[in-house]
Amino acid sequence: MSAPLLAVENIGRRFGGFVALESVTTAFEPNKVTAIIGPNGAGKSTFFNLLSGVLAPSTGVIRFKGRDITRMAQHRFAHLGIARSYQITNIFPDLSVHENVRVAAQAFHARYDIWRARAALTELDERADAALAVVGLASRRADTAKFLAHGQQRALEIAIALVAEPELLLLDEPTAGMGPEETKGMVALLEKLARERTILLVEHKMKMILGLSDRILVLHHGRLIADGSPQHIQADPEVRRVYLGQNDGYA
Ligand SMILES: Nc1ncnc2c1ncn2[C@@H]1O[C@H](COP(=O)(O)OP(=O)(O)O)[C@@H](O)[C@H]1O
Ligand SMILES: [Mg+2]
Repeated sequence: MSAPLLAVENIGRRFGGFVALESVTTAFEPNKVTAIIGPNGAGKSTFFNLLSGVLAPSTGVIRFKGRDITRMAQHRFAHLGIARSYQITNIFPDLSVHENVRVAAQAFHARYDIWRARAALTELDERADAALAVVGLASRRADTAKFLAHGQQRALEIAIALVAEPELLLLDEPTAGMGPEETKGMVALLEKLARERTILLVEHKMKMILGLSDRILVLHHGRLIADGSPQHIQADPEVRRVYLGQNDGYA
């Protein structure tokens, strides 16, 4: 493995007496797509919350490019180069598509030099438009966000994450609630994004994951039970057993 972008050692998280994630040790190489799968309640979102600074781990260490970021404040993660989207759509519904991205750009590239204010605003607008172009929403920039189709709202969230120009993008169920057509569009976007950055995604659509991912991690009851190539995971008897009878399994 080349030097990992992100490495975790024995990270775990408890909620009271309940262990949501138990002592996971693994590392992620740059410029690969890794899917994290597992039944509901397996600890996938908790894992993402630890990797993006939303939650502090109860145990273990997180390193990004070799640097210990375990106790770092959440707002600093974006500046390190780690951005994420959430399982539940998370946009400002009454702002325009462009404003949604510009607000994020403003929060990220905060500048207080009033003499540069006008130039800085233009730059933020341009950054927002560049991110919208990447996700295919340039033509919808003036529309109110709540009037976008569901799939476009998910793409908008990715544009919001992209304004920080992250090296590592964490996407929690980017195709949740999408039909086959919207899913195809999202897969095409993810393939494009994956050419230039490292992507970790939580997903349920097995066919999509098998085609898109370089590697798959399987969580079950907070434990990492399998880790390998799509072929390896498909053939793994424990993974098959965990997914047996699950309607979000190998369908
Ligand atoms: N903030 C929390 N407080 C208490 N329990 C939580 C919290 N977040 C998650 N859990 C529990 O941890 C387990 C793993 O949750 P989660 O990581 O959301 O699973 P997944 O994303 O794989 O469906 C679940 O049993 C869930 O109820
Ligand atoms: Mg989840």
